[in-house]
Amino acid sequence: MSVVQEAIETKKLGGELSASTIEAVVLGYTRGEIPDYQMAALLMAIRLVGMSYDETLALTSVMANSGPRYSFPDCVDKHSTGGVGDKVTLTALPLVAACGAPVAKLSGRGLGITGGTIDKLESIPGWTADLSEERFRAQVERIGLVVGGAGELAPADKAIYALRDTTGTVDSLALIGSSIVSKKAATGSGHLLYDVKAGSGAFMKTPAAARELAELLVRLSASLGIKASALVTDMDAALGSAIGNALEVRESVAFLRGEPVPADLAEVATDVAVRLLELHGVSDPAGSVRRALDSGAGYEKFAEFVAAQGGDVDALVDLPVSSSVRVVSAPAGGFVAAFDALGVAQGALELGAGRQTKEDTLDLGAGVELLVRVGDEVSAGDPVARLYGTRSVDRATALVLGALTIGPDPVTPTPHVLDRL
Ligand code: URA
Repeated sequence: MSVVQEAIETKKLGGELSASTIEAVVLGYTRGEIPDYQMAALLMAIRLVGMSYDETLALTSVMANSGPRYSFPDCVDKHSTGGVGDKVTLTALPLVAACGAPVAKLSGRGLGITGGTIDKLESIPGWTADLSEERFRAQVERIGLVVGGAGELAPADKAIYALRDTTGTVDSLALIGSSIVSKKAATGSGHLLYDVKAGSGAFMKTPAAARELAELLVRLSASLGIKASALVTDMDAALGSAIGNALEVRESVAFLRGEPVPADLAEVATDVAVRLLELHGVSDPAGSVRRALDSGAGYEKFAEFVAAQGGDVDALVDLPVSSSVRVVSAPAGGFVAAFDALGVAQGALELGAGRQTKEDTLDLGAGVELLVRVGDEVSAGDPVARLYGTRSVDRATALVLGALTIGPDPVTPTPHVLDRL
């Protein structure tokens, strides 16, 4: 029997795989020596039977070591499990860099309903993530904030994730945890904050499931020598009011410049920044973040970072978005009971703010701006959202309206940060 057949038999019967078996199977699959059907059978057995903590840690290590590994022990980083309108990287990281905690971030492009940080930043004319390793390192040293493309980081995770995506094996806690932490370990930052989203627009639908994942992420990180903590944040509604690439950069710039933004965005961005500074050992983290906001130092750091990566800083103050705008109106009066993140994201996707397949081209100026939030009182005909862009506007309108629930009774909005660990 081959090593992968033995592994399938062991897992099928509820046994535990050794670290050396996990290594042989994962590296064999990544090199193309193990066929998809055998790897899929093993992943399904893992999905159904689960993995012990030791197996999960072994899988994480071997995937982290399957490609280039970087080391930035003094740097901080954050990972979000993906949400709608999630602009925490764009808002919290310039603040922590301005407070003296350096950030070396490797990011990706978006696929499906959640946008990628690189797509968002590419809406700034001239900005590029295409940096040599030398330039990446030099920028961390010089200004303490850099975002580059993730490239070939953890290639074993990339291969296995693509297979999981088409074989019904994504939704396994052990496989999700090892996948996320392998990429973070390969990036090499010494301090990590996980922002685990819970709700309709997130991977984990309930706060309890999100907490379980958060605990695993923190534990795996600690086992690999990374100081980590986590927040569980709400994703039943989008974060802030902007969903779409240039729209999200605009809202992030407004926050960093001290202009009014929705309370949920301000709260989550500030909370993440404070937690990262705590992990890094900065004294008075909350006071430091407040001063970086009040003095404009966070915005100056963001502008410095944009310029260092070729972006046009002058464009930041009024970043262009699509000039084709449709206003969506409330169909009835009452109180906003829900503005479902998933439906709004699907609307933004139709407008061209996201990719349905890897080959799709984005309209960086497209997206949705929400004009009301849960708890607001509206009258019939009041504007509730603006849609930007020219693609599938009727379908997007129907999706955004379908996401809106208006009821007769006053509604108390839920907190944005649901749990801390
Ligand atoms: N994000 C990842 O990086 N991996 C998973 O398995 C799920 C979400």
